Amino acid sequence: MEDKATIISLRNVCKSFEDGVTVVDDFNLDVKEGEFITILGPSGCGKTTTLRMIAGFELPTSGSIMLNGEDISLLPPYKRPVNTVFQHYALFPHLDVYDNVAFGLKLKKVPVEVTDRKGNKKIKMKHLDAHTIDERVSHALQIVDLDEMEDRDVSTLSGGQQQRVAIARAIVNQPKVLLLDEPLSALDHKMRKDMQVELKEMHKKLGITFFYVTHDQEEALTMSDRIIVMKNGVIQQIGTPEDIYNEPVNAFVADFIGESNIYNGTMVGKLQVRFIGAKWDCIDDFPLNEKVDIVVRPEDVIIGPAGKGMVDGEIVSKIFKGVHYEYIVIVGKNEVLCRDTKDHPVGATVSISVEKENIQIMHKELSENQYTDAWINSSNQVVIGEDPFECDVAQLVPGGKLQEDGSVLDPVSKRTYRFKDADVVATIDLDKVTLSDDLESGATQGTIINLVWIGDHYQYIVRTDDDEDFVVNSPYSWNENDLVSISVDKAAIKLRLKKDLEEYAED
Ligand SMILES: Nc1ncnc2c1ncn2[C@@H]1O[C@H](COP(=O)(O)OP(=O)(O)OP(=O)(O)O)[C@@H](O)[C@H]1O
Ligand SMILES: [Mg+2]
Repeated sequence: MEDKATIISLRNVCKSFEDGVTVVDDFNLDVKEGEFITILGPSGCGKTTTLRMIAGFELPTSGSIMLNGEDISLLPPYKRPVNTVFQHYALFPHLDVYDNVAFGLKLKKVPVEVTDRKGNKKIKMKHLDAHTIDERVSHALQIVDLDEMEDRDVSTLSGGQQQRVAIARAIVNQPKVLLLDEPLSALDHKMRKDMQVELKEMHKKLGITFFYVTHDQEEALTMSDRIIVMKNGVIQQIGTPEDIYNEPVNAFVADFIGESNIYNGTMVGKLQVRFIGAKWDCIDDFPLNEKVDIVVRPEDVIIGPAGKGMVDGEIVSKIFKGVHYEYIVIVGKNEVLCRDTKDHPVGATVSISVEKENIQIMHKELSENQYTDAWINSSNQVVIGEDPFECDVAQLVPGGKLQEDGSVLDPVSKRTYRFKDADVVATIDLDKVTLSDDLESGATQGTIINLVWIGDHYQYIVRTDDDEDFVVNSPYSWNENDLVSISVDKAAIKLRLKKDLEEYAED
């Protein structure tokens, strides 16, 4: 890819809507010609908005978008050499496959050189001739493997075939860049897998740039040359699938891409880090006493006989996955997800080890508290560590309304969802946690294990009995080892489901 020219550049692109909320924040990116690039991120993080700005359906609030070095930020969509395949594609039900694909071309005018009566040459806009249209439609249908079906009514096609018609309709315009917004989300699992492979082949055959959007990490990893991981409108990391999987820059990326074990750690010596109750050698050099996030991939955990590894734990769960077993081993209060081809019984005590190059250490993001092992109990509270906190589960459904019976209603689809036992990631702003000397006043209690003065306030790390840390900004002063109560405003707990929303639908 390195020797290819840059086709699209986004420079400091920001977008906020009328309500003033910034949904895309200082987006910078260079896309190479012919690249398969993917924006990956949770629902609402700004993926579609970014794509719509490239297509011209939405104008950036600030910043610029360049195509081959030319600023196209203000060009209308039809003047941009890009085409979009949407999340929800709309075909013309009364037209057959051929006519659906040919539709746009029949309206299209192209510049042609003509000679007038006086013999002067000039440029005139003319419709494409029937032969050119036929050639282009046949070629597009061949690329999407529908050349045998051109006379079929689109209403008789399967979901996958309809999606292919939608793609043919976009590529028939010979765009330089094809924008694809979750084009496979309406398909079932098997069809999605097949279409992933086919899209990859289409990309190869066409040789044009594909700009893809998905919230499915597996899809992003298998198809892309490069992935942009986005959260709350901000790019977290740009890199090849291997980079992003092996070297995530923060706990959010690690958690979002693939399965991982994420722990709170502390640097306790030169190239030594403490987590899950043991002191481990590592290869990343961080300052002594620094609080860090630790990521260990399940496939990098080595299970051995008790007493022969770094720490011992008990196997509490075992699932056969075909090639390997997936185990959960409890070490102290921490869960360790591991894979092993060997068969161990549930209840066995085993040891855990990890090669030092497989312990990924990252700066702790002290901009918010993040709890990746939280869950919702039967009272719709979020359990962090072992402590329940009041929270608003309605936020898990876009536009959702909490019902009296504890379920959440989607007012658009009229479906209801129930989140008991749902695994979630909970985040809490540092400014939204309140400490108090009145030990009964909060949801839980903790001990201050660290404090620093930052300009005009203290930043505390408060550790609960279950070993969860709360980082708190406060103007008030406490000392190390003070016992305090911890409370969090219900509205300040942001929740994200670890599984698909559909898993919690009630019907
Ligand atoms: N026209 C609009 N007016 C106001 N807010 C909007 C508008 N369009 C999008 N938003 C908001 O911008 C944020 C980003 O939306 P966007 O559609 O880009 O997210 P996404 O990453 O594509 O999510 P999904 O995975 O659910 O498709 C959301 O909070 C959304 O509500
Ligand atoms: Mg979207």
